[in-house]
Amino acid sequence: MARILITSAIPYINGIKHLGNLVGSQLPADLFARYNRARGHEVMFICATDEHGTPAELAAAKAGKPVAEYCAEMHAIQSDIADRFGLSFDHFGRSSSDRNKALTQHFAGQLADNGYIAEVAEKQVYSNADGRFLPDRYIEGTCPNCGYDKARGDQCENCTKQLDPTDLINPRSAISGSTDLEVRETKHLFLRQSALKDQLDAWIDSKTDWPVLTTSIAKKWLHDGDGLQDRGITRDLDWGVPVKRGSEDWPGMEGKVFYVWFDAPIEYIAGTAEWADANGKSDADWERWWRTDKGADDVRYVQFMGKDNVPFHTLSFPATIMGSGEPWKLVDYIKSFNYLNYDGGQFSTSQGRGVFMDQALEILPADYWRWWLLSHAPETSDAEFTWENFQAGVNKDLADVLGNFVSRVTKFCRSKFGEEVPDGGSYGPEEQALISDLQSRLEAYQAHLDAIEVRKAAAELRAIWVAGNEYLQAAAPWAAFKTDPDRAAAIIRLSLNLIPVYAVLSAPFIPDASEKMLRAMKAETTAWPEQMHSALSMLSAGHAFEVPDNLFTKIEDASRMEWQERFAGTRA
Ligand code: 2FM
Ligand code: ZN
Repeated sequence: MARILITSAIPYINGIKHLGNLVGSQLPADLFARYNRARGHEVMFICATDEHGTPAELAAAKAGKPVAEYCAEMHAIQSDIADRFGLSFDHFGRSSSDRNKALTQHFAGQLADNGYIAEVAEKQVYSNADGRFLPDRYIEGTCPNCGYDKARGDQCENCTKQLDPTDLINPRSAISGSTDLEVRETKHLFLRQSALKDQLDAWIDSKTDWPVLTTSIAKKWLHDGDGLQDRGITRDLDWGVPVKRGSEDWPGMEGKVFYVWFDAPIEYIAGTAEWADANGKSDADWERWWRTDKGADDVRYVQFMGKDNVPFHTLSFPATIMGSGEPWKLVDYIKSFNYLNYDGGQFSTSQGRGVFMDQALEILPADYWRWWLLSHAPETSDAEFTWENFQAGVNKDLADVLGNFVSRVTKFCRSKFGEEVPDGGSYGPEEQALISDLQSRLEAYQAHLDAIEVRKAAAELRAIWVAGNEYLQAAAPWAAFKTDPDRAAAIIRLSLNLIPVYAVLSAPFIPDASEKMLRAMKAETTAWPEQMHSALSMLSAGHAFEVPDNLFTKIEDASRMEWQERFAGTRA
């Protein structure tokens, strides 16, 4: 039994996530967590909401709520949706937790003690009326390029020109509208990533098994242009982790907070500590996942994320860990994803374009989405969601292949032999051929899941379902029953035995349907089928079952067209 630590990139707090976000980290991470638990490994699966930074402040302001209150509400909403999608986190934490505050301040203190923090004086816009420094996007004014009068300090939305706040004509505060602004000097902390460049480079070189997508992005940041840059890790904002050096005040840094990207990955660790707190465990219980001096040296740590997150996870966060000089666990494997596009364009949170997690569940159960998304995961390139493709995938794989198999076998058995596994006959060459085919497919399936090849695993699982269907079609128990009922009994006995095996193998992808299949078959064991031969004789003659309700309903053209139209625009 191995110990596997799994983290999914933590979603921003500002709003419900879309399906592109979901398939880019949380969902494949869940697949991997469920699979490893099923194989008997000890798994710690952590996710959280990413609650700091300007986007959280702006979203709270828009909602007319204090930011802490907004975050608490949104956390509860995201947590509920994650549950309903079957995301099996051991803990869904919050980057605004006390645990994360303390750990973030601790890391900053360690980095400073070890010489990896530089204090840098910068010029920034200060608003006298608001009594605060304004981040670039909090400053509005007229674009010098096109004359648009609501251009932001970082960019003009109208002509897309990148701007500096000082470029704006008639600049004003986006918070109060005040024009009483001045440029003041302010001090910030920088993480001296450049000083860790060689160490990071060697570490990445040692990761020869990483996906090309992951290492190529890391290498680009390490070597392109002037190479790895130091990074500002503090901001002049109210909302965030207050800048401290460990538990000590940091002279000159009063009123400042850490940059959201500094504290967010630390939340992976803090979230595990929150798990311990929430479950009456001790510090030793979470530290054995994270401290190599406290038992974590035999942990395999796997991270999941979209490609835009890769630089932070291959460089900045490892720099934080390495620079701390303490024995924290570094990631062993980074699984990154390309983007899922929506119907000829991009999913977009800011524009409300695409299907969002809450909306998806209003239409169809989680398994439909889980299956389609995972079987189309954007692994080697960007992928595209279209309603036609979604309808086709669900109808064919889930309804026609898996659902139909379960329904045909159980209903046929009920009508000819009653609701119990029939006696008589024995497995012949066709059955032996199926069993050995399934054994090699099982091994391929496991290999793909071990390697986190999500699409390949889905394809193999589909092939496992298809093999059962084809066997049933060829063996034709309905014909055999007329001349040789014992032969029909043997075929049905094997086919009924396939259902719990399918349930267990499919559970990482479609946990709810799997649960229904196991319940219907009254399966006594849900153990992973190591050997098909013995797994397929678990249900012996006389074992009672029930015909389950339809596992999947086909998506009709009319529904598809209705949804297509409903989700064509943008969400209010
Ligand atoms: O891109 C995002 O959605 C970020 N909130 C991911 C943060 S991952 C981490 F570092 F915690
Ligand atoms: Zn402009």
